[in-house]
Amino acid sequence: MPSLTFLTSYARGYSSYYVNRRVRSAWGGPFNGQEGRRAIFATLLDVVKPDLLVETGTFLATTTRFLARSGVDVVTVEGSAEYFGFAQASLLRCRNVESRFGDSRSVLRALFDSPKYQQRRVLAYLDAHWASDLPLAEEIEIIFGRHPDAVVLVDDFQVPGDAGYGYDDYGPGKALIPEYIAPALAAFDLVALYPTLPADDETGARRGCVVVAPRNRSAELCATQLLQSADDGGAEQPTATGIDIAQSGAHPSGQA
Ligand SMILES: C[S@@+](CC[C@H](N)C(=O)[O-])C[C@H]1O[C@@H](n2cnc3c(N)ncnc32)[C@H](O)[C@@H]1O
Repeated sequence: MPSLTFLTSYARGYSSYYVNRRVRSAWGGPFNGQEGRRAIFATLLDVVKPDLLVETGTFLATTTRFLARSGVDVVTVEGSAEYFGFAQASLLRCRNVESRFGDSRSVLRALFDSPKYQQRRVLAYLDAHWASDLPLAEEIEIIFGRHPDAVVLVDDFQVPGDAGYGYDDYGPGKALIPEYIAPALAAFDLVALYPTLPADDETGARRGCVVVAPRNRSAELCATQLLQSADDGGAEQPTATGIDIAQSGAHPSGQA
């Protein structure tokens, strides 16, 4: 039985979708109004061919509605009853979206432990960072612990070498920087890939991002020319199982 507090907040959020039309879209549109980011997402759809999109941090469902337009099943998670109510009103016509309320970590565990979502090609957008309780590291562990082939896009992440992109910093040990995800990369043999587009050429809020993916997908993702690893400023070296990047078109860095 939902508590009275939950119901009051939920109702306030639900009604505000109809009452306050000005707040229907957050931060200038999907993916913070960033065209470069939307291009990365379109490329990830193409390469990963997901049959499940997962978003943590629904907020006003601005990006959720955009994800839904791909036609792929979407599950989105929101921890605030008020935003959850707003999002439910906003997503009424999106038949391929399942909107869940709760802490992203417990919702992700329950989601991926249920048989319905176990055999899926998962592309996740992690955006539930808002305060000092930072769920991101655990979200990554939960996803790759259950779906080793998943690909994850994280918003508000530092882009090494490009200070024009903004990122979140909630204090010691809670900044969205490469060191924060290093343990997960090592534990699950993952790579971190960053936008090749300079922040100066990006639109919207110019928030940074990182794509976290299994190492054996690195060459294929870098061949899109939209992503690169931080250490070489370009493509990861092809692995025995990866695509030979030299045969997949030149990378903007000029490196093979
Ligand atoms: C930056 S906003 C998300 C923006 C949205 N993805 C978009 O593109 O418009 C972050 C949202 O995450 C939610 N949030 C923060 N921590 C959370 C958690 N642990 N679990 C679920 N949602 C959380 C906040 O309530 C807030 O609505």
